[in-house]
Amino acid sequence: MVRTAVVPVAGLGTRFLPATKAVPKEMLPIVDRPAIQYIIEEVARSGIDDVLLVTAAGKSAIEDHFDRRLDLEAALAAKGRDAELAEIRALAELVSVHAVRQPEPLGLGHAVLMAAGHVGEDASFAVLLGDDLLEPDSTFLARMVAAHERTGRAVIALMRVDDPERLAQYGVVAAVPGERDGEVLIHDLVEKPEPGHAPSDLAVIGRYVLPGSIFPVLRTTAPGRGGEIQLTDALRTLALDEPIIGLVLDEPRHDAGEKLGFLTATLAFAARRPDLGPDLVAWLEEHLDELRERADRAGRADRTQTQKDGA
Ligand code: UTP
Repeated sequence: MVRTAVVPVAGLGTRFLPATKAVPKEMLPIVDRPAIQYIIEEVARSGIDDVLLVTAAGKSAIEDHFDRRLDLEAALAAKGRDAELAEIRALAELVSVHAVRQPEPLGLGHAVLMAAGHVGEDASFAVLLGDDLLEPDSTFLARMVAAHERTGRAVIALMRVDDPERLAQYGVVAAVPGERDGEVLIHDLVEKPEPGHAPSDLAVIGRYVLPGSIFPVLRTTAPGRGGEIQLTDALRTLALDEPIIGLVLDEPRHDAGEKLGFLTATLAFAARRPDLGPDLVAWLEEHLDELRERADRAGRADRTQTQKDGA
């Protein structure tokens, strides 16, 4: 049974500077809730009620967000703002949140290893990376947990990427078709393959259901790319032993850890909202020509600058 979701949030978020100098990137709001809240809501929807955040210095706002805030509750109660009060309270009751510190950012594999004490060596657990946002009502993680419970194997989420240049930015799997539709059996993984040398078009994204047997493997995994302990390297060792199940994503996914993905997530999530969607889309339709002009001008300025820099 999968009881715990491990959510590593100890990274520096350098792709989002300067916004992330003092504010953790997980706390940047998408519409009206911090990105991490969508992740924790996804955990709760999958039936997991225990979350372990792997945190670092400067990240305490994340824990605060899922804790009670009694002064705010009292102020909302005194003003009779019952809806907001209920929402704030519900947030603290979604799941039980624990935290462990990763003293140095030594890689995602190292961050996952920090969870060994809380999870236990014999238990299976989920890992969710906050950058990858699925639909706000996604049940994909629940399907991954079900696949793990059916097979006892590690399960990882995959996404098809057609563009070889883009594929080269991901971990990519070598796999054969699995027993069920949308399922593959992974026998190897390659981190950021050279364009044209990827073993498939299936990229690893930030959802995993892992057996406790990953912990001893992580302990003996040598630092890889960038001197960091890579989760991909440990998964490779697991896959050599017995194939890992890959579940291919069949819904949109946004990489909210980079600027464009953050913007597309904001638009896509806002468009679903009855209080915002119709007005937002009407505004976009009305201003599309003007937006296009601005973007064309920005593109021209960028090309001129590039020519100047090259001269
Ligand atoms: P990223 O490689 O995206 O790093 O880590 P980052 O620091 O978050 O962002 P950039 O690249 O500097 O902009 C993927 C996930 O692994 C966590 C991060 O918090 C993120 O959720 N992570 C990474 C850790 O918790 N510890 C690490 O040592 C490395």
